[in-house]
Order: sequence, then C-alpha cells, then structure tokens
Amino acid sequence: KHIIHLSAECYPVAKVGGLGDVVGALPKYLQQAGLQTWVVMPWYNKPFVRMHEFEVVYTGSFHQGSRPLEIQVFREKHDVLGFELYLVKIPGLLDRDEPYGYMDESEQFMAFQHGFLHWVTQMGITPDVVHCHDHHTGLVPFLMYHTDRFVQLRQVPTVGTVHNGQYQGWMDWNNAILLPPFDTWKWGLLDWDKVINPLAALIKCCTVFTTVSKGYLGELMEQANGLERLFAMERAKGIGIVNGIDTAVWDPSSDPMLNQHYRISNVQSGKRKNKALLCEAYGLDPSKPLLAYIGRFAGEKGADLLPEIIENISTSNGVDLNIMILGSGDPQVQSAVAYLAEKYRGRIFAYIGYQEELSHRIYAAADFLIMPSRVEPCGLNQLYSMRYGTVPIVRSTGGLKDTVRDIDEDDGYGITFQQADAADAVLAIHRALELYNDGQRMQRIRNQLMKLDFSWTKSATEYVTMYHNIAKK
Ligand code: ADP
Ligand code: GLC
Repeated sequence: KHIIHLSAECYPVAKVGGLGDVVGALPKYLQQAGLQTWVVMPWYNKPFVRMHEFEVVYTGSFHQGSRPLEIQVFREKHDVLGFELYLVKIPGLLDRDEPYGYMDESEQFMAFQHGFLHWVTQMGITPDVVHCHDHHTGLVPFLMYHTDRFVQLRQVPTVGTVHNGQYQGWMDWNNAILLPPFDTWKWGLLDWDKVINPLAALIKCCTVFTTVSKGYLGELMEQANGLERLFAMERAKGIGIVNGIDTAVWDPSSDPMLNQHYRISNVQSGKRKNKALLCEAYGLDPSKPLLAYIGRFAGEKGADLLPEIIENISTSNGVDLNIMILGSGDPQVQSAVAYLAEKYRGRIFAYIGYQEELSHRIYAAADFLIMPSRVEPCGLNQLYSMRYGTVPIVRSTGGLKDTVRDIDEDDGYGITFQQADAADAVLAIHRALELYNDGQRMQRIRNQLMKLDFSWTKSATEYVTMYHNIAKK
C-alpha cells in the first residue's frame, strides 16, 4: 500500500513542536511495516534542505485565483530519513525560512494543498491513502472529493489527524476565490460559524479522522475551540491512537546531544552527571532537586501559571529546589519568567527561545518535568522525560491522562494533579519533593520509568490496521 502524508512540519527538516516529531517518526515505522510511505511538505530554507541532495521530480504551474504560480517538487535522493521525502516549492509562497508566522499563511497553505494535488494528478500518481495532518492540510479531502480538478483521486480514502484542535486555520470567505472551482451548494462543507474552517472541513470530508490519544478524542466533544458539536456529530469515524516516540532519536544511552550517556543500570549516576554539567553551565546548584519546564508559552500548555508557581515555590519555607525553563511564546510569560530568573538567580535558569540540544540535556538532567497543560492532545515531553528517567508532573488531561499513572496508584510512576491552576500544581510539586527525599522510592520509580515502552511499534500497527481497513473500500 502507498500512503502519502501531508504536513507542515517533519523532524529533522522543520520542527516547531510535536507535529514535527510525529511526522518525522511515524512514517519510518510505517515504511518498516511494509507500507510505501511518502511525506510531502512545503519547501523551507532550512539547514537540512541545504545539506542534503534533492532531485526535481516535477515542474509545472497552476493558478491560485488569478495569480499564476510556478511549482517545483523535490525528492530527497538518498532516503536518509527512512521514508521518501518530497518538498513542494512555490516561489513567492513556499520558499520561506519557517513553517508559520507569515501574514499570507492562508495563501501559503492553500497553495501547498492545491500544488500537491496538481502535481500528483498531473503525474498520474494515485496513492492508496492520503493522510492529512492538522488544519494546514485540512482542505485536501474537500478538494479531492468536491471539485472537478482531481477526479482521479475521488476514490482515494483520506485520513485526517488532529494534533491540535485549538488551531483551525480560519479564513474569511473572500478566500474562496483562491480555491479551485467547486459547486457553490457545497459551501457548507468548508464553513463553520461563517468563516472557512479548514479543520472543520477536514473532519467533515475525510474518510476517518484520528486524534493523538484516546482521551483527547472524548474531550474534543466537550472542548474543541468551537468545534465540539462537529466532533460529536462525526464521532463514529474518529479513532484515538496515542503517539509514540522515536526511540532511536530519544535514547539516553546513545543520544549525541548528551555528554554523559546512561542506561537503566546506571540511571542514578548518569542523571547525576548530566545534572552536574547542566547546573554548572547555568549557575544552578547540582545538590538540589531540579524541576524543568520545556515547551511553548501558550495558554493550552498552562505556561501562564509558571510565574505564580515559581514565585510560590521560591518563597515557601522548607522548599529548596532549582528550576530550569526552556520555551518561548506569549510575550507576557516570557518577560515574567525572565524577571523571575533574574530575581532568583542561582536557583532558576530560563532560556527564552528554541534549542533542540538544550531540551535533550534538560530531559537527561532534570529530576522532574512539569506540564500544567489545560489542553494536551497527546504531549511528547512527558514521554521523552520518562524515557530519560525523569519523573513527569502533569495535569491529568488528554494524552497526559492516558500516559502518566500517579505514584499513589498501583505501579504508578508519575505525579498527576487535577486543576489547571497554580495551587494544585504547587501541591503536586510538594508531593514530588517528598518522593525525592525518599531516595529508595525515587530510585525505584526511575528504574520503572526507564522500563516503560512508549515506542511507536504498537501505535504504528494501529495506523497500519486503519489504512488496510479503509483502503479495502
Ligand atoms: P506541542 O506540539 O503542543 O508543542 P508536544 O509535547 O507534542 O507539544 O511536543 C513538543 C516538542 O517540542 C517536544 O519535542 C519538545 O521537546 C519540543 N520543544 C518545545 N519547546 C521547545 C524549546 N523551547 N526548545 C526545544 N525544544 C522544544
Ligand atoms: C500537538 C499537541 C501535542 C501533541 C502533538 C503531536 O502539537 O499540542 O499534545 O503531542 O501535536 O501529536
């Protein structure tokens, strides 16, 4: 079977968050499972693209509204990623440095989707499944089934994966003229609340949709940034499949981004050495427990709670711990965190920005990783931290609820809390410190964490089964 994944991100070519990790890993496992797997993404001006060899497999042109666009499709020549990688380049739209953040983002993603369909139909490529990730590729099933341009693809089933229902790609109806012509009576398939909503269109038009954890599938009916009703209506074609992690990239015994490697047999000393290095580099005290936060400063991640949590922890009697924060986003959170790092210098270190290498070092060095998420479709940070023997402290929601079991339950290995507020998070941190002070128990939990299996093997099999089920039809 031939599966084409469409995504705005794919690690290590371009990654902004977990979407990149998933699209860089899952296809590898699908390819290993015997599926011919392609990833198609926009062309970016990134080191990976400059450093690898590509061949042009298609050159052509099409119109977006009245604007003529030139399209070039590149294929990575040596299959270094474990699947076939294709980049769609369209001068003026898909030739930028980053995946997101441009004023004409809607035009960019429309051009990507139209460009992809144009290329495959011109070349007579008919895959068995087209798999769309998030709203950036959400219009594809509509365009395949409800316009006259791509009839060759009418019978091809589509999968839509919701990595994040908070972002939906909303655009004004004026943009409809930029799409290939469609029967106007079908406008309702694109519409949600009087705007074009690509995520809603994806859910309405795809053959099946998946969410990145089972828990999140249920939650979307209650909390989906306006699409609750839609998810409830379309529930029957939804499947929850929890994300895995790429255990070749995330392995403390071989991770090239670490200076000190360790495995389960020496997890205590291994983590101690990593912590010593990191604390020395950033002016913290390695003899204290180390709590970390890694992630986007966004409301869904509960990052706005960090300042209150930090202030509370730093001023409580008898609490003696160091905090390390890596992230960026909301300017208010950025400046509050930077201010606190200055105020409590020597106990808190914050790096405002994105740093892949530092993230690996923190997962290895930290004793605890906190995720006070309001919404968490899956969450990969807790999975990476567990693989590195770091105890996750998470608000029980979505994928966090599905993957972290509290230490007070049978065979539990993490710390969970219920409310997305600073008070509950602080209580959870106190529980974490109790655990830390019980050396034997802490050691037992670390060993247990390192034995957990969050690899893609099982989840990839669930995708394979799903592809076989829909491709038969
Ligand atoms: P989301 O995709 O919602 O941001 P995930 O938990 O799925 O959340 O994935 C986040 C990914 O991005 C992880 O690989 C995490 O290590 C990484 N990450 C987030 N922020 C940073 C940062 N500032 N520097 C380096 N890596 C980061
Ligand atoms: C999204 C979600 C995150 C998930 C990731 C990968 O960015 O916010 O929870 O892990 O996608 O599926």
